[in-house]
Formats: sequence, structure tokens, C-alpha cells
Amino acid sequence: MATDKFRCSILLLNALIAFLLLITSFPVFAGSTGTRPGLSPRTATDYIHAVIQADRRVYSHDIVARLSKLGVIKATENWEQDNTLLLPAQFLLKSAELSNERGIGMRYYLTSLWPINKKNSPKSKNEITGLQEIARNPKEPFSWIVKEGNRWFYQAIYPDIATSESCVTCHNNHPKSPKKSFRVGDVMGGILINLPLGKQEKHAELGKHQFPPEIISDYVHSVLASDREIYSKYIVDRLKNQNILQPSENWWADKTLPLPAQFLLNASQLVEKRKLGIHFRLISLWPINPQNGPANEFEHTGLETVETHPIRPYIGISKIGRKTYFKAVYPDFAVTQGCVNCHNAYPGSPKKDFKLNDVMGGIVVSLVMK
Ligand code: HEC
Ligand code: HEC
Repeated sequence: MATDKFRCSILLLNALIAFLLLITSFPVFAGSTGTRPGLSPRTATDYIHAVIQADRRVYSHDIVARLSKLGVIKATENWEQDNTLLLPAQFLLKSAELSNERGIGMRYYLTSLWPINKKNSPKSKNEITGLQEIARNPKEPFSWIVKEGNRWFYQAIYPDIATSESCVTCHNNHPKSPKKSFRVGDVMGGILINLPLGKQEKHAELGKHQFPPEIISDYVHSVLASDREIYSKYIVDRLKNQNILQPSENWWADKTLPLPAQFLLNASQLVEKRKLGIHFRLISLWPINPQNGPANEFEHTGLETVETHPIRPYIGISKIGRKTYFKAVYPDFAVTQGCVNCHNAYPGSPKKDFKLNDVMGGIVVSLVMK
């Protein structure tokens, strides 16, 4: 009798969960009529910037500053000849180049009024004003809209701050630096994010502009995927192949580089702390760490779908309480031989026959609609 009751309540619970999944998570159909939820330009750039900044922080703080303090390896301007780490700015610029070259619409740059490299100078009057404004008030990004040719753009510039002594020491002592008096906490430059709005005059009415969440999620993913590829190619694989430094799961204790998955995880934890409404994580149908398996039906279907159709993400909208979330699963590709070799040989890895460019798993991006 007791077990029957128990079984009955389990059945009820299952039915309830199935029902909740049904009503809370449904795919979005592009082109469907009715009002679609959108994101304001400011929310959009806040999400994109959060990822750029978190990855910049993980690279400059957990990798460059930490390993150089430990005497393991330094970051130098001529990293290729010196067999060292890329400078934090070089890492960001390389990743931005990769993302910008995809031609997805959104572009981002590192810029400064006092650049070591003239290429990083502001490119317009607006950018100069933006840099001056964020130096005056680093708490807020500065944004504007501009028409270039026959198209409108929304541009926002976020402060890039000297978070450690190493930023200041290196810039103040660099022969090409036009400013020698930086102090920790100063605004050293800015991260400029440029979003295309379109051709029509109505796009100039900023207050009314709303971005479809799937577009902003694509932009966020492009930053994540670019940083992930640059980290894997130019840091992990390069230094491993030259027998300079081996990545390791116990990277902190081993005084070495975190695995690419741990890089992403650390960044996602930094973003999580800011409670902005953006979340991301790495998942797989063949996880080395069982915690990285799909957490629900949506993620499971998403992984299966992007493995078969890797050209576009699997997307959906769900409601939890009063909040509406846009969710997307993007394919995570084996971009280097290092991804393949490590997973195929890793003790406990459920799949041992990955090949270069295979879909190894997925990156889940989730954005709160506001
Ligand atoms: C070891 C030296 C070094 C360190 C450490 C360093 N930088 Fe730089 N930084 C450079 C060099 C060199 C460039 C120019 C890179 C290029 O060729 O585009 C640069 C570029 C920049 C730029 C773009 C404008 C410019 O000067 O060309 C900004 C902004 C910047 N760094 C901020 C920082 C911050 C913030 C930190 C600390 C988190 C930091 N840098 C750490 C050397 C350094
Ligand atoms: C040196 C070894 C190593 C390299 C290189 C490596 N990984 Fe992993 N990867 C791991 C380990 C270990 C985990 C589990 C980390 C954890 O505990 O969450 C993991 C996690 C993952 C996950 C989440 C699912 C899982 O297996 O737990 C994906 C997806 C993934 N890696 C893909 C890649 C891709 C793509 C690359 C190349 C860009 C790559 N990995 C490079 C060792 C590696």
C-alpha cells in the first residue's frame, strides 16, 4: 500500500515535470507572427561585454599574472620568438580579429587615447569622446548611434581598467607608450562594441530598437568561441607541442595552464557573480566529467541536433517564475588536434574516436529577456 502510494506520487511528479517542461520550454519559430521578445541595445552590449571582460580577466589574472609571479612563464610582446605567453592585449586583439572576420555583424576592438600601438587609436570623433567620457566616469559605458555610409550602428565603449600592477609597470616603461603615469585602478583604454542596426531611418530611434535574442546570443557565442580557439591554439597547444608547459586539470596546484574547459568555466563563474542575466556552460553527450552531461531535455535534444546540423544553434524560450530566458545550444568543435588527442586519451572519457573538426559537445548560452 505504502509503495503504491509512493509509486503513485512518483508518477504524478513525473507527469507534473513533463507538463512543466511542455509549457515552459518550447522552440521559437523564426518568422512566426505576434510580438517577439527583444533586447535593448544596452542590454545586448552589456551581455557581450561581460563575456569579453570575463575572458580578459581569466587570461590576464589567472594565467599571465599568476604564472609570471610563480616564475613559470612570462607574457612578452614577441611571444612567438620568445616562446612565451601572448600579452593580454594581444590575446584580446587576436580573438577580436577572429570574431570580426566571421562577418556576423557585431565587431569589437581594444582602443585607447594613449596607445602603445597606433593601430589601437580611436578611429572617430565619437570614439575619442567615448574614451574621454569613460575615463571621467568608469562606472558606466558610453554609447551613441552613428550612420556610416547608408547604415546605422550602435556603438558602446566600456572602460578597460588597470587591474594589476603588471598592467601599469609594463605600459609606463614601454618605450612606445605616450603615457608614463598610469596607476592601478586607472582607465587605460576601452573596449568598443559595434552593433549593426540596419539601413532604415527608423533605426535611428534608439529607444525603440530591440534586438532579437537569437542575434545577441550569436554575438555572445562568437566571443566565447573565438577566445576558446585562441586559447587552445596559441596558448595550450603551442606551449604543449614545444614542451614548455602542459595544461592540467589540477592547474592551480600544478602551477600550469587550466584546460580549455576550465578557462570557460572560470569565466562563466565570474559572469555569474555579476548577476547580469547571462549564463553559459559547456556540455556534451560524451562528457569526461559527468556533471557536464545535458541537464534537461532541451540540452539533450540541442546536443543531438547540433551534432547532426552544426550550421545553426538549437534555440528555445523558457519561463522560470517571472523571468523569460532565451536559450541556445551551439556546437563545440574540435578546433585543434589537442582537443582530440586529450579527450581520446583521457582516462574515463566515454568516447575515444573524436576527429579534428568533430562536434565534441555544445556551448549553452542563456539570456534573461529584459
Ligand atoms: C608586458 C607588457 C604589458 C602588460 C603586462 C600589459 N600590457 Fe597592455 N599592451 C602592451 C602592448 C605592447 C600593447 C600593444 C599591443 C599591440 O601591438 O596592439 C598593449 C595594448 C594595450 C591596450 C590597447 C592600447 C594600446 O596601448 O595599444 C590597452 C587598453 C591595454 N594594453 C591595457 C592593458 C591592461 C588593462 C593590462 C593589465 C590587465 C595590460 N594592458 C597589461 C603591453 C602590456
Ligand atoms: C589536456 C586535455 C584537454 C584538452 C586539450 C581539451 N580538453 Fe576538453 N575537457 C578535458 C577535461 C579533463 C574535461 C572535463 C573538465 C571538468 O572536470 O569539467 C573537458 C571538458 C570538455 C567538455 C565538456 C564535456 C566533458 O567532456 O566533460 C567539452 C565539450 C570539451 N572538453 C571539448 C573540448 C574541445 C573542443 C577542446 C579543444 C578546443 C578541448 N576540449 C580541449 C580535457 C581536455
